Amino acid sequence: MKAFKRAESNGFIIPDLTLESAYFENTNCKILDGKKLSNNFVQQSQALISARKIPCLAVILVGSDPASKVYVNNKIKIFKEAGFLSKSFILNEADYSEQDIINLIISLNKDENIDGILVQLPLPKKYNSINILNTIDSHKDVDGFLAHNMGSLATGEFNTAIACTPFGVMVLLHAYGIQLAGKHAVVIGRSNIVGKPMGLLLLSDDATVTLAHSKTKNLKEICKSADVIVAAAGQPEILTSDYVSNGAIVVDVGIHRKIDGKLCGDVHSSVKEKASALTPVPGGVGPMTIAMLLLNTALSAWDLINKKEK
Ligand code: GUN
Repeated sequence: MKAFKRAESNGFIIPDLTLESAYFENTNCKILDGKKLSNNFVQQSQALISARKIPCLAVILVGSDPASKVYVNNKIKIFKEAGFLSKSFILNEADYSEQDIINLIISLNKDENIDGILVQLPLPKKYNSINILNTIDSHKDVDGFLAHNMGSLATGEFNTAIACTPFGVMVLLHAYGIQLAGKHAVVIGRSNIVGKPMGLLLLSDDATVTLAHSKTKNLKEICKSADVIVAAAGQPEILTSDYVSNGAIVVDVGIHRKIDGKLCGDVHSSVKEKASALTPVPGGVGPMTIAMLLLNTALSAWDLINKKEK
């Protein structure tokens, strides 16, 4: 997996989970266990820091979005488990102007104790997210969202941070021995956070990629011709079994709370009857996003290439 070479040169490895054989109940559909793989990266991180600088992430959360609060708390918890440091800035929307947040980021850019800066998205509507994100020093952009870092992904240089969710999906597929060369991979969703970098990553490992979105015609036919489907549409359970061909591999990036309080993804449970492998929700892509944030923060703290450019 080409995008992993920067992590590899810093001592991380992708464990081999090809012999794992847990299946969804009463199906032949393998569970792609993101939680298990994420735990492995927490352990690798713990082992690697014993001889190196302890990485530190600054997390900025503005406003009161309940889902964002849960995500940020999970990130802080996992960082602690790995023995990494984090500094959180939980800001009240009413008390902070856009310029105040920009000023905070400028001070974090200068702070040598901070290796990565994460602004939890979405920001409340009153802020211009692009202005705020573009203030982050590209070396500290552990989300890989900035144009410089997205560009390095697009050119295949892979020497800067890669967006955590699609990076986590790639690592998960690789750990389970899923080969991508020549496969038709369909990504549903074209966001800067998931869909676009996901398409580029799949392409870099020689998949034939279709990036589908809300204006795509014949989505069902396109999905039926896919060997791999990554559902990142942000719509609960929209990918039903009639979109999936027998044996396809399906990755569910969505996470939604249903009226009954239960969590679901973008993928309907009927897909398990056709897919040969699927990520569970929760416990699939979510933990991998945090694992890759850990990895990106470690690389920002340790990477020799970055250090020389600083
Ligand atoms: N909101 C949803 N996913 C993400 C992510 O990966 N990073 C940030 N900063 N915000 C998010």
